[in-house]
Formats: sequence, C-alpha cells, structure tokens
Amino acid sequence: MGFSVGLAGTRCIGTLCPPRPRPFQSLLLLLWTLLNCVLGSSAQGPGEWTPWGSWSHCSSSCGRGVSVRSRRCIRLPGEEPCWESGHEYRVCQLPDCPPGAVPFRDLQCALYNGHPVLGTQKTYQWIPFHGAPNQCDLNCLAEGHAFYHSFGRVLDGTPCSPGAQGLCVAGRCLSAGCDGVLGSGALEDRCGRCGGANDSCLFVQRVFRDAGAFAGYWNVTLIPEGARHIRVAHRSRNHLALMGVDGHYVLNGNWEVSPPGTYEAAGTRVVYSRAAAPQETLHAAGPTSQDLLLQILLQEPNPGIQFEFWLPRERYGPFQVQTQALGWPVRQPQPREVEARAPIAPPPLMPTLAPDPCPPCPDTRGRAHRLLHYCGSDFVFQARVVGRHRQAQETRYEVHIQLIYKSRWPLRTREYVWAPAHCPCPPLASQQEYLMAVRRLISPDGTQDRLLLPHAGYARPWSPAEDSRIRLAARRCPV
Ligand SMILES: *[C@@H]1O[C@H](CO)[C@@H](O)[C@H](O)[C@H]1NC(C)=O
Ligand SMILES: *[C@@H]1O[C@H](CO)[C@@H](O)[C@H](O)[C@H]1NC(C)=O
Repeated sequence: MGFSVGLAGTRCIGTLCPPRPRPFQSLLLLLWTLLNCVLGSSAQGPGEWTPWGSWSHCSSSCGRGVSVRSRRCIRLPGEEPCWESGHEYRVCQLPDCPPGAVPFRDLQCALYNGHPVLGTQKTYQWIPFHGAPNQCDLNCLAEGHAFYHSFGRVLDGTPCSPGAQGLCVAGRCLSAGCDGVLGSGALEDRCGRCGGANDSCLFVQRVFRDAGAFAGYWNVTLIPEGARHIRVAHRSRNHLALMGVDGHYVLNGNWEVSPPGTYEAAGTRVVYSRAAAPQETLHAAGPTSQDLLLQILLQEPNPGIQFEFWLPRERYGPFQVQTQALGWPVRQPQPREVEARAPIAPPPLMPTLAPDPCPPCPDTRGRAHRLLHYCGSDFVFQARVVGRHRQAQETRYEVHIQLIYKSRWPLRTREYVWAPAHCPCPPLASQQEYLMAVRRLISPDGTQDRLLLPHAGYARPWSPAEDSRIRLAARRCPV
C-alpha cells in the first residue's frame, strides 16, 4: 500500500503536474514530520491556540454589557507562551433597563452596605465615587462621610463612567471597535466597511472651475446615492446650493440664502458653514440615500469649487455618465470626433540648454491608446510639471495636480510621478500642463509607494479638445 501526499482531489494539466512523490519519499517525509512534532521542534516558537469557545451570556441583564469568549494555549515542552490574549470581549446590547433600575456600579458598592469593612466594626452605606484616578476600580463613597474606599476592580462590563461609551474589562476602560470587540481598535474605512482598506469605493475629488456666463444657478456636480465623506468648499461671494431628486432645495434655493447650520438631506446631516473670509463649506458623513445635485448660485466669477466624496465602486461608472449628461463642464466649441493629428509639443530645453540626447519616442496618439490607458490606470489628472529630476534609470517629475478625472486613492496637490527611464516617453516639459494617466506602484517589500507613468503611456499636453476626449474615454471603460 503506497502513500499519496496531498494530491488527492487536485486537478492538474499535462506538464503542470507536480512529480508524484514515490512511496519511499513520502515515508521519509512522514517520519520527519513526526520527529519534529515529538521533539517539539528545535525552533522555540510560541504554542498554538485552540479555536475560540462560544460567547458567554451578557454580563448585564438589561442595557449594555460585555460577553467574553476564550481559547487555550497548547504548548509543547520548550515552546513559548502564545502571543496575544486568550480572551476577547465584545459589547452586548440588551433592551434598555427599566426606568429607576439601579445602575450596575451602584449595585456593586451597595454589596458592602451594612458590612464591617476597614478592619473596624463600623458599617457604612456605599455609593459610587467618580472622582478617583482609576475609573475601573470600585471606588465607593461612604454616605454622609468624607472618604471613599476602593474595593478592587469593578466587574467586567461596568460602564467606565455614567453615560460614557467605554466599558471596564479586567480593570481597564476599553471602547469597542466597529466590530463590537472591546479594545480591537477596528475602524470603519471610508467606504463604511469595518476594518476595510478603502478598496470597495472610489475617491472622487475635483475642482469645478467653470465660470458661468450669467448670474444664477449652475450645476456643479451630481452627488450620487451612496456617497460618503462629502466635502465641498470654495472662497467667493457665491453660494453653494443643494437640491434633492424631487427638485426641492435643501439649502440656498430660490435665490434665498439659508443660515449656516445642519440640514437633513438624503438620509444624512449636511453641515453648512459660512465664514466672513468669504468662504463656504458643506460636510456630510453619508451614506446618502438619494442623489443630490450640487449647484452654485453665481454672483461673481467662480474661482473654483473643490468637492470630494467616496463612492461605492459600482456607482462610479454611472456617475461619470451622468456627469457628462449634466453638461459638466462644456468648456469649448464641441469636440470634433476626428482627432487632430497635432504633433506632441517638443520638450522645451531645460535651463542648461544642453541638447537632449534622447532618442525619439514611439507614436502614442490615437483614441485606442487613450482608452487603454484611461481604463487601465489608477489615476487620471491634469497637472502642471513643476520640476524634473533625472537619474540613471528613472526620471522623477514633480507635478502640481489641478483637476482629477479619476482616482482610486486620495491624491495630494503636489505629487511625484516617476517614469521608468532616463529618457522617458513621452517626455514631459517643465511648466507645461498635461493630461496623464498613471498607476500606483507599491514595491513588493512595501517600502515604496509611487505614481508611475509607464513607458509610452498616456501624457498629453492639456488642451480643451484633449480634455473633452478624455471625458469621452471615461464613459467607455468597462466598469
Ligand atoms: C482610508 O482613507 C483615509 C482618507 O484618505 C485614510 O486616512 C485612511 O488611513 C485610509 N485607510 C486605510 C485602511 O487605508
Ligand atoms: C442641472 O441639472 C438638472 C438635473 O439634471 C437639469 O434639469 C438642469 O437643466 C441643469 N441645469 C443647468 C443650468 O444646466
């Protein structure tokens, strides 16, 4: 009878099949494994945890309390104790306590009522005292007297102080992460997922620069349903206006300026503030339950409105399409479908005036190229090149980002963009504005996190026509 190790149920194709271990080899492997186990292995690693047991009952009989689960550390001789903790506490929430119920801490103090304590026969009535240093000690005040006594720790699940979120566990005040586990520190990410990495939504951050030709309401952007962490800001005497899908204004509608304050809209609270600077901001945590339309009530030329929000991934494509439908922004004579074959502007010489010895770059014009790079990139933006630093193998551009068309992660106003060659293609000239599609590249060891403009990637001098084309490309990407 032979051994077959690990291959049962594994399908493989032709030459991709791993060599089948022969019975003799398998036997050796088994012996080696057993020996390692019996000798506890010379590597003095930590022991192993058993699986978690089940959660205990809630520590309280009403309101908030804690429930605990435990696991045991199995150690072979010579192994270190397991890392991390053998207990995990989570908040449990039972129906609210009836009015007039005695709070948990009061009950614990009251256990000492009428009992002789402090080594004398005197007895006292005890009530909680909240002025002592450790709020998770059972500090009780002797009623009618000017002293308190600490009776050790409070029981697990006692609120750290009345009305506070934190609960005492093993003498420490812990607050629950978004997973409900006390002390886990788990936070909701920008997409609203507990412990997530911001990867189920996309960050939209733009500056609306169109100056309307007349005073009145202008569409700035649609803020789609599901948006989170919405922020809008501008500095001018114009006023932001917000409209619901039903056509009713949430604020600053119908030529009337609303007072700063908190407004309920689309299932979230919108905080509207106005400073004398003059400056206006809108903030909302979201998620919104309906589309909102952001407008500007123009009284003077628009110097730029910054807005940002996080959108669930599946809403990004439709958002781009709707953005186009809102006519956002039609800057110039309509784009012509036929692309002008204008040559890429030659790079102006750097201040040294040295001739550029770089060989010519491949031709990267055309709609297919644009589409390919738009859809395959992490970021697409309009940026001014403010510096260039050439090294042996790569070139680093410092860019000032002006308008973001697409971004999977937040961008700062100034970023470095790296091109993988001493003579990058296409070359970017200092002080020129480009539309470019770049990727985020994180080195395998995680030490470098860069924006990369791939060789023969998309970077074209900014022009109104190119701007229109890139917006068109945005609509063609598969979502
Ligand atoms: C998610 O994005 C926010 C805002 O940019 C950032 O502060 C946070 O660290 C990000 N979280 C993760 C897990 O990357
Ligand atoms: C703004 O968008 C709304 C909703 O799509 C549309 O009905 C309206 O005509 C637009 N207004 C302007 C000035 O473009």
